[in-house]
Amino acid sequence: MTERALSFGAAAGDYHRYRAGYPDELVDVVLGHATGPVRRAVEVGAGTGKATTLFARRRIEVVAVEPDAGMRAVLTEETRDLPVEVVAGTWETVDLAGVAPVDLCFAAASFHWTDPATRWQRVAGC
Ligand SMILES: C[S@@+](CC[C@H](N)C(=O)[O-])C[C@H]1O[C@@H](n2cnc3c(N)ncnc32)[C@H](O)[C@@H]1O
Repeated sequence: MTERALSFGAAAGDYHRYRAGYPDELVDVVLGHATGPVRRAVEVGAGTGKATTLFARRRIEVVAVEPDAGMRAVLTEETRDLPVEVVAGTWETVDLAGVAPVDLCFAAASFHWTDPATRWQRVAGC
């Protein structure tokens, strides 16, 4: 993982305050592609939780993987009343045995930070 990939946390508060979020309709679009009920999901690079909260408010249990401690601190606070498990780690190294099986794997503005050699195999492992 590059240093740049972990550069967000130094400004996690500003990131959360000033970066635009996602519309709630995004969840409908994603769930529209599901072939069955989505009860449990894993999120790659959850950041401060801008996408996490949208899915969790639909009562989807989200395992939110985030490597950066600064981002994780905001994420934990933002999701404290939601069905979210915050997991420290990168997508490359997180123990998927503790995550799988899930109904959905999603990433919001983060998948490009993961290792292209292994990222899809890791998704398939869920
Ligand atoms: C642009 S932010 C997006 C955060 C959030 N998903 C959002 O939409 O606001 C990218 C996030 O990817 C995380 N990240 C970088 N490399 C990663 C990796 N190898 N595995 C998992 N997450 C990673 C960063 O720590 C950062 O929180």
